[in-house]
Amino acid sequence: MKILVFTEKPFAPAAVKAIEQTVNASGNDLEVVEGGTREDFLAAMAGTNGLIVRSDKVDAAIMDAAKGDLKVIVRAGAGYDNIDLEAASERKICVMNTPGQNSNAVAELVFGMIVMMCRNQYNGKSGTELRGKSLGIYAYGQVGRNVARIAKGFDMKIEALDKFVDDVVMEADGVKPIHDVDRLFSENDFVSLHIPATAETRGSIGYDLVMKMPKNGVLINTARKEVIDEAGLIKALEERPDLRYVSDIKPDNAEEFEKKFATRVFFTPKKMGAQTAEANFNAGVAAAEQVIAYLKDGWDKYQVNKF
Ligand code: 3PG
Repeated sequence: MKILVFTEKPFAPAAVKAIEQTVNASGNDLEVVEGGTREDFLAAMAGTNGLIVRSDKVDAAIMDAAKGDLKVIVRAGAGYDNIDLEAASERKICVMNTPGQNSNAVAELVFGMIVMMCRNQYNGKSGTELRGKSLGIYAYGQVGRNVARIAKGFDMKIEALDKFVDDVVMEADGVKPIHDVDRLFSENDFVSLHIPATAETRGSIGYDLVMKMPKNGVLINTARKEVIDEAGLIKALEERPDLRYVSDIKPDNAEEFEKKFATRVFFTPKKMGAQTAEANFNAGVAAAEQVIAYLKDGWDKYQVNKF
């Protein structure tokens, strides 16, 4: 069977090597295409039975380029909003993600960004500390839990909101459960977003919520740019010169944000939360193992579509 790894954003070399070893040991064939174009992707799909991607867009045309050979797609990572699940289900292609494999990397970046903003992007001016400040975690999944774990080391007060997680789970972690998104924003100096991009969450973080933040509030987005209502956020930042926004990926209106708010905003040039050797290794090897297990035995523990 042919397994294709297609990623615009390359994995660390050690991760590619480990994926190669895993696939070779299973007796399957591996092709790795990193940094290719859509044409490269379409061409490489010929004869592909199992596909591994990161945030790369996988639509019906990509699936059909395998001419019926494609059986499984594994997104090496958490968010699968880049994959057309409906098209996959229609074609009886199993789609899985690799939950938890890159979450520590994303959580560490949250604090890298928070400290950077609290120290004025290291410009030499006096900043502020995290100790004793409050952090609101919006969605308490794998990344949110890692964020809470690290926040404890900074001596922060932690609240979280997640309608799919029982209060007892948060309480066991020393995190105060919150059931109202307005409160999450009004009670916390920092709000860290970990919600997926879905029909329900797209554009859901905007003017009204951000305006509720306390003085000197910082909004941190290592989730998806699509969850932000950019016009609403810009309006809030205009009216509240004390607020700051930091995001792991450029918003659509990055230039306007940067022009209007200068050092009150910071954006990574590319999504880099999961861009560590460790996260690449963990997610890449897990993805390879999951593709192999599906092709061999129909193993589908992390399937995210239905057919
Ligand atoms: C994820 O959903 O796992 C993260 O956003 C990482 O995405 P990436 O693999 O494209 O860096």
